[in-house]
Amino acid sequence: MQSEAIDTFEASARRQRVLYTRNHPYAATVLVNRLLTGPASEKETRHLELSLGRPGIQYLPGDSAGVIPENRSEAVEEVLRLMGFTGDEPVTDFYGGALDLRKALTSWLMIGKLSSSTVRGWAKLTGNAELTALVLPKNKKNFEDFLWGREFPDLVEQYAVKLGDPQQMFKLLPRLSPRLYSISSSQALYPDTMHVSVRVVRYESYGRKRQGVCSGQLGERTPEGAVLPIFIHSNQLFRLPADMDAPVVMVGPGTGVAPFRAYLEHKEAGCGRWPMWLFFGEQRASQDFLYQDELLAWQKNGVLQRLDTAFSRDQKVKIYVQQRIREQSAELWRWLEQGAYFYVCGDSQRMAPDVEAAVLEAVAVHSGKGAEYAAEYLARMNKQKRYLKDVY
Ligand SMILES: Cc1cc2nc3c(=O)[nH]c(=O)nc-3n(C[C@H](O)[C@H](O)[C@H](O)COP(=O)(O)OP(=O)(O)OC[C@H]3O[C@@H](n4cnc5c(N)ncnc54)[C@H](O)[C@@H]3O)c2cc1C
Ligand SMILES: NC(=O)c1ccc[n+]([C@@H]2O[C@H](COP(=O)([O-])OP(=O)(O)OC[C@H]3O[C@@H](n4cnc5c(N)ncnc54)[C@H](OP(=O)(O)O)[C@@H]3O)[C@@H](O)[C@H]2O)c1
Repeated sequence: MQSEAIDTFEASARRQRVLYTRNHPYAATVLVNRLLTGPASEKETRHLELSLGRPGIQYLPGDSAGVIPENRSEAVEEVLRLMGFTGDEPVTDFYGGALDLRKALTSWLMIGKLSSSTVRGWAKLTGNAELTALVLPKNKKNFEDFLWGREFPDLVEQYAVKLGDPQQMFKLLPRLSPRLYSISSSQALYPDTMHVSVRVVRYESYGRKRQGVCSGQLGERTPEGAVLPIFIHSNQLFRLPADMDAPVVMVGPGTGVAPFRAYLEHKEAGCGRWPMWLFFGEQRASQDFLYQDELLAWQKNGVLQRLDTAFSRDQKVKIYVQQRIREQSAELWRWLEQGAYFYVCGDSQRMAPDVEAAVLEAVAVHSGKGAEYAAEYLARMNKQKRYLKDVY
């Protein structure tokens, strides 16, 4: 793609993004919904392709898709049963629109995850002494433990109370919020579709099998042909370098690889010349090497200059991406000194800080100037917007 064409493409993407929002989503058709992980994997990670039509929604590498989920009908019916409602009761939504309670519990209200405000409201309604004590500030830790792994029906079952007015549900329950998924395709290569890579959240708690509201829906109730309400969540802070020759280092374990697949496709489409280096990590090479064929093909055809993988459970002692960074620290230092942009995507809690520590170490050692200089170096990269994170 020539630079003039790219400019037009980007301007048009900016215009289209604002057309579709959380309240006015785009109805995208699911064209592909397939497993990325192998049958023996401990995870279920899926690749979805959504049709955008023409003229449709537009996006850029680094953007995320906002997906508007619905609660499972089994969960909705359980709430109705536990609360003694039929589901046909008329209510009004947050904007005053008329609907019945079943629809409200399906599309508007968060019943799949227990919020602190719901428990506080429930404590007042029931007047239950145990709940009333639990929500006191001095019991913060116990309260957090209580919330973890519980859903709204658990609360209703444990502390039963009859609500006279179904409209009270809108006061008690937060609004069901959209979930974001990093877009894993480049529109320069796929003008009419958008891809996402979704790990289906499943766990067991309090003797019941649970699933994430949105990822569960994408995993189980979104077959090919289904329509999904989506919008674009633009992220100007996670763009490829404007300098098309600047080196790009990408660290994306698990679903963190998603935006980097989009970057690589963008380069493959001819949108830039960036030398590219990817660190990818997952549990097992045979089961969890997401997009293995594509990544290896890009390495072979020169779109991807370097690929370092860390499969944590293929040996007795876990190996994570930061270990590969440490092993390659001299080379990484060369890339950084050549003006490389450093991108991290995926887990915010453990991975991103650990990766940062490994980068600091690489700079401290190979600059020969120690830890203080490394901290300044990274602060400078941050300021220059060359150390970029999209973590969750
Ligand atoms: C910018 C951004 C980009 C993202 N990109 C991606 C992506 O590319 N791919 C992707 O898969 N996800 C991505 N996510 C995460 C995604 O948005 C959702 O948060 C994720 O899919 C979970 O949503 P859910 O509705 O399925 O789960 P929810 O219904 O929201 O449930 C998740 C909740 O379940 C509870 N829970 C989870 N595990 C356990 C457990 N073991 N025990 C007890 N409780 C538990 C926790 O309270 C957790 O917060 C991204 C997030 C952001 C912010
Ligand atoms: N809000 C949600 O409920 C939700 C839903 C989906 C995803 N997520 C988050 O999205 C992120 C990606 O999830 P994912 O399942 O695709 O991948 P992931 O959990 O990040 O796992 C990918 C790889 O990273 C490894 N890893 C674990 N700890 C690490 C660390 N400190 N440093 C570097 N690597 C580490 C894992 O190893 P081991 O597993 O062998 O330790 C695995 O090999 C995670 O943060 C996850 O919590 C959140």
